[in-house]
Amino acid sequence: MMISNRRMSRRSLLVGAGGAMLGATLAPRALRATTPADDLRLVAAPSRASIAGSDYPDTAVWSYNGTVPGPEIRLRQGERLRVTVENQLKQGTTVHWHGLRVPNAMDGVPDLTQRSIKPGETFVYEFPVPDAGTYWYHPHAHSAEQVGRGLAGAVIVEEPEPMPVDRDIVWVLGDFRLRDDASVAGGFNGPMEASMAGRVGNTVTINGKIPERVAVRAGERIRLRLINAAPARIFGLEFRGHSPLVVTLDGQPIEPHAPEDGRVVLGPAMRADLVLDMTENPGSTAAVVDTFYEDLGYKLVDIAYTDEPALRAGPLTPPAMLPANTMPEPDVASAQHHQVTLSGGMMGGGGMGTMGGGGMGGMMGHMMSGGPMWAINGVAAHGHDMKPMLTLTRGAPYIFNIRNETAWHHPIHLHGHSFRVITRNGKPTRYREWRDTFLIPRRESAEIAFVADNPGDWMFHCHILEHQDAGMMSVVRVA
Ligand code: C2O
Ligand code: CU
Repeated sequence: MMISNRRMSRRSLLVGAGGAMLGATLAPRALRATTPADDLRLVAAPSRASIAGSDYPDTAVWSYNGTVPGPEIRLRQGERLRVTVENQLKQGTTVHWHGLRVPNAMDGVPDLTQRSIKPGETFVYEFPVPDAGTYWYHPHAHSAEQVGRGLAGAVIVEEPEPMPVDRDIVWVLGDFRLRDDASVAGGFNGPMEASMAGRVGNTVTINGKIPERVAVRAGERIRLRLINAAPARIFGLEFRGHSPLVVTLDGQPIEPHAPEDGRVVLGPAMRADLVLDMTENPGSTAAVVDTFYEDLGYKLVDIAYTDEPALRAGPLTPPAMLPANTMPEPDVASAQHHQVTLSGGMMGGGGMGTMGGGGMGGMMGHMMSGGPMWAINGVAAHGHDMKPMLTLTRGAPYIFNIRNETAWHHPIHLHGHSFRVITRNGKPTRYREWRDTFLIPRRESAEIAFVADNPGDWMFHCHILEHQDAGMMSVVRVA
């Protein structure tokens, strides 16, 4: 399968040990919203970007304001965000503010919360931002192709009292499928991939570039905000030689803890903030590797320590938990339960594109005829304009018991709300973490609990974008 980061390995060979530090990886461009009067503008348009590096031609991309990822939007908790989006693409688009609990009309879902922004049109998004954390924005129209060609960007909402760190760094993790000339391969929403792991690319990027090395200084403490903006790729990141602590998931504070099995797993759209203490010696290097897909591990990037003396003498004390955000606490005892079943796709699949035995015949015929391949509670979506799967009472607590009956992993996202993950496979979770997207491995289950406090029609879907486009999408109404 096409998942080896071939461009990355070629680059590492070319660059070798003496290569230049890529400071650019660490310097995201920020659009700062400081006052309500600030009118930020995002223009979605075709442009060119150097994704594969200077040995390759620039890549024709679709981007916001000419860069991949789009500009980072930074503001403080409680401020209002106002963004005018202009569409210079040849097809309709919208902007969805992933994870931000916005009013329904600002949620950016075509045919559900707004009309698609036609080519040449603009749309103004304006809403207060209630919670701090790491979020992102992306189109919700033709999602697999628009995100797959580069449309995505970070939204960072700072706490009133930021966590004391030496540097706050954002990594927007991207995944592109490039041809040998570094152009984006066509063939989005191909039925084979859509019915399996989705379109996993061959070129993994950090902030829009194939990363070479990230320069750090011994002794410093970094808050590393990871955003999986890939259309389909799941990451499992190991920071060799280091002991990162997870301090937020999907923007929501969690008791600082070492990641399970030493690996930070991020399905598409998921985020994690890490506190990373640079505990190695000046001049040393350490690899960040992605080992999510069995036998397909690769090195994402080298952390390269400068020769400067350590910033401080001893180790730092562990970080304190960040203050909680503003979600109401769901009363689990009185919550109404709903069963949610995920079905469809190729049967007997493995982690990545292996087509095991069984189940091929019927599904294959269905796929080839262009029919939907995935369903939620037996219903496959055709477009966003759907009848609600469930109608919830505003202000009431709910528990969804989500069962993944498929042979594939699905990162499931609820719009307009954050939820607690209270059980996995019937067992209580240790941290009862708040999330807006949760990866449910094949044939596993999870219970999520939340208060349906945000009125409107909200998408509930898989964030592997080919799965979403191929039916794994539904609507939950809060009324
Ligand atoms: Cu990140 Cu429905 O989306
Ligand atoms: Cu899925």
